[in-house]
Amino acid sequence: MTEVGKALVSGVTGGIGGQVVDQMASQGWDLILMARQQTQAQKLRERLMHEYPGQSFWAYAADMMDRASLSATLTQISHDHPSLNALINLAGVLSGQPRHSEAGIEWHVHGNVLAAHQIQEALRASLARGADTGRKSVVLHMSSGAANGAKDPWRKGGTPNFGKPGMMGAYATSKAMIAAMVAHDAAEWASEGILLRAVDPGPTATGMARGDGVPVLVRPFSGWFKKPETSARQILAALPPEAMNGASGLFVARGRQRRMPRLAANTGFQDQVAEFIRQSA
Ligand SMILES: NC(=O)c1ccc[n+]([C@@H]2O[C@H](COP(=O)([O-])OP(=O)(O)OC[C@H]3O[C@@H](n4cnc5c(N)ncnc54)[C@H](OP(=O)(O)O)[C@@H]3O)[C@@H](O)[C@H]2O)c1
Repeated sequence: MTEVGKALVSGVTGGIGGQVVDQMASQGWDLILMARQQTQAQKLRERLMHEYPGQSFWAYAADMMDRASLSATLTQISHDHPSLNALINLAGVLSGQPRHSEAGIEWHVHGNVLAAHQIQEALRASLARGADTGRKSVVLHMSSGAANGAKDPWRKGGTPNFGKPGMMGAYATSKAMIAAMVAHDAAEWASEGILLRAVDPGPTATGMARGDGVPVLVRPFSGWFKKPETSARQILAALPPEAMNGASGLFVARGRQRRMPRLAANTGFQDQVAEFIRQSA
């Protein structure tokens, strides 16, 4: 292992994920690459091994929407990598169609919240061991500025209403939920030497920004969004443990700490999200 550290990155085939991987590799990180398809993860691994022969790269596959598949892969990863310094969770979904996972959970909530939590929990012991050396481990989960427009799914009581599909609906809700999860879990995880941070990459010209989950009027302008390499650089500003005054449980956008979206900052909402995650596990 190099002295820079070892990190797991999910969503490495994505517009932003690909750039995060390239920038971290150029900084000297050893990287565990997690993708939906093994062939894609392996292809990326081979390119990186060729470009950075002094570093180590591993390839794993898992479908975030399939709890069992994700669990099997994560068990293997935590066995193969008992010590980790960072987790950057970039895999995410945005759909304009009403969809549910096989577990019957709203698509965005499953992909952007429950899968992220499953990854975080499965790697908790490895991240804590990574922090044993005295240097804190860091987890970055992707939120979004859309979280600022999210409505509380529990506002009417009873069964949660995550909203219609799309960026301004269930996607926004899921991104408020992941930020709330980060705020809720931060103190407990900090006691194990692990810092949790929610990051908004900002509007970025990737496949997701051109997809059917983005409002029709916004889609034609997605070509003018930030380049993925710019977003990757801003995301990675939150990676050094000492960045952001060494704080945990915070919201980062454009490379700086920002105010947590109002709903995510609400401790009642944070407790609801934590309970929902616990019940869905
Ligand atoms: N682009 C933006 O404007 C923007 C703004 C704010 C936040 N974000 C967030 O930033 C993150 C990265 O977004 P992006 O723009 O880079 O999106 P992207 O290009 O669509 O990449 C999404 C990544 O998630 C992976 N993924 C999707 N479904 C999966 C599944 N079921 N199992 C495993 N992997 C799956 C994709 O893998 P495949 O290649 O196999 O599909 C891909 O690697 C996301 O969390 C997104 O919500 C993006």
